[in-house]
Amino acid sequence: MLNFKEIRAKYLNDLKEIYTDNETITLFNSIIKHFYNIDSTEISLDPKKKVTNSQLLFLVDILKDLKNNKPLQYITNSVFFYNNNFYVDESVLIPRPETEELIEWLLNKENLAFHEKNILDIGTGCGCIPISLKLVRKKWHISSIDISENAIKVAKLNSSNLCSEVNFFCKDIMKLNKWIQPLDIIISNPPYLSKNEKKNIKPNVTDYEPSIALFPPGNDPLIFYKKIINFCKKNLKSQGVLYLEINPIFVESLKLLFDSTLFKNLEIKKDFNSKNRFVRAVKN
Ligand SMILES: C[S@@+](CC[C@H](N)C(=O)[O-])C[C@H]1O[C@@H](n2cnc3c(N)ncnc32)[C@H](O)[C@@H]1O
Repeated sequence: MLNFKEIRAKYLNDLKEIYTDNETITLFNSIIKHFYNIDSTEISLDPKKKVTNSQLLFLVDILKDLKNNKPLQYITNSVFFYNNNFYVDESVLIPRPETEELIEWLLNKENLAFHEKNILDIGTGCGCIPISLKLVRKKWHISSIDISENAIKVAKLNSSNLCSEVNFFCKDIMKLNKWIQPLDIIISNPPYLSKNEKKNIKPNVTDYEPSIALFPPGNDPLIFYKKIINFCKKNLKSQGVLYLEINPIFVESLKLLFDSTLFKNLEIKKDFNSKNRFVRAVKN
């Protein structure tokens, strides 16, 4: 019978072409913590701790998935995002830390916690944006749309698991002109990778994350931004605010979309990697 240290050695050996040793150890520790609630310190203190046959089969299966570049979050069906655990599977994008920064920025700027506001999030994925906002701003009325029925199911599951009240709708933003009521805030992290970038993206992303969440349709990488800005004309209140996550390579062309007759106070904010990643604009 193998022990945990020996299995860890197998992970280190089999994954050395994909991950550094430190990354593999972090992955291994997360896996045994998630599935068996075993801390890495337990193994350091008891290096001969045995692995049962069923654990062995399971850990070898996971190793196969990791060798095939499957992201850990799809193996554990979980991601920690803005202080909460969200369920994720291959029907939704794995939320990124940059998006936590977008939420933090919005909450800092729109800090009148006791004011009621109507918010719409476009492209909900696992629901990480609207649920995180609602958990902090209880008075806000938050709705969220996604074109993918499966994403909406995942978002509803997360909303119920985390006891947040968000209204989810399966809708295509490209076909939507009028929202139910005038909005105070619109937020979106739409698909924004260009086809040219595909060759530089790692297989753990392109092979597993939904293409519909990564790439806009057709050949115009700004198509969602154009539509959302147009949607703001009809649905965002005067003094209402638009927040967007963007692809840094398009920042200059994006700026040109913000007509000064419609928007004022255009702000671009950098992410933790010093890349132009977020836009905030106030409607006239
Ligand atoms: C980049 S992901 C963002 C997911 C999540 N908001 C996050 O930040 O992790 C973009 C999302 O937009 C959705 N989407 C793609 N096309 C859409 C459309 N035409 N209308 C509405 N949602 C769309 C995708 O299904 C995906 O969930």
